Amino acid sequence: ILMTLLCIVGGYLIGSIPFALVIGKVFYKTDLRQHGSGNPGGTNAGRVLGKKAGIAVIVLDVLKVVLAIGLSSLVSGPAALLSGLACCIGHCYPVFAHFKGGKAVATMFGFLLGISIFVFANAFYFLCPLIMFFLMLYLYKWVSLASIAAAVSSSLLIMAMNWSMSIESVLLICGSWLLTLLVIYRHSLNIEKIRNGKESKISWM
Ligand code: G3P
Repeated sequence: ILMTLLCIVGGYLIGSIPFALVIGKVFYKTDLRQHGSGNPGGTNAGRVLGKKAGIAVIVLDVLKVVLAIGLSSLVSGPAALLSGLACCIGHCYPVFAHFKGGKAVATMFGFLLGISIFVFANAFYFLCPLIMFFLMLYLYKWVSLASIAAAVSSSLLIMAMNWSMSIESVLLICGSWLLTLLVIYRHSLNIEKIRNGKESKISWM
């Protein structure tokens, strides 16, 4: 139990590292919270600072969750899942940035990649939502909508592939829906903008 708690706290702290703000401030002298959508995430970094910065932020945000899950998987499967979730929550509500963080999209993919590698040894959990993401992005050009679709599809997939009453699968299914709800909730403003026709579309796809 103590080790699991340590994994959860460690995951939260790793997730709290605001890479978008760090990269923006260190390399571009720009506070992303004051530009574009104001979101400290990969999409807004790409929008405001350019493609290179966007990709760097996304990669680092994905890797921080993979790292948290990888280290915690040495303790147990449930510890790895909980640490990954705590990392995503840390990303949205970071202790190092006044609890104002991102929208959990890159970290959700980090979670899916992490569990694919360290918990299930099955790339399906990561690849299917990723395909859904790019398909929706190709069709509608809204990163936010593609992110929400990927999140919902990941939870449906996890539910379909782990339908049993074991503690691990109940934890996984509840955890993945929690993450999906977090992604949807963090996109409330984007959803409103889509409905008003004001959400910005990406131009390069
Ligand atoms: O990275 C989160 C994405 O889904 C939306 O970001 O900046 O367009 O609100 P943004």
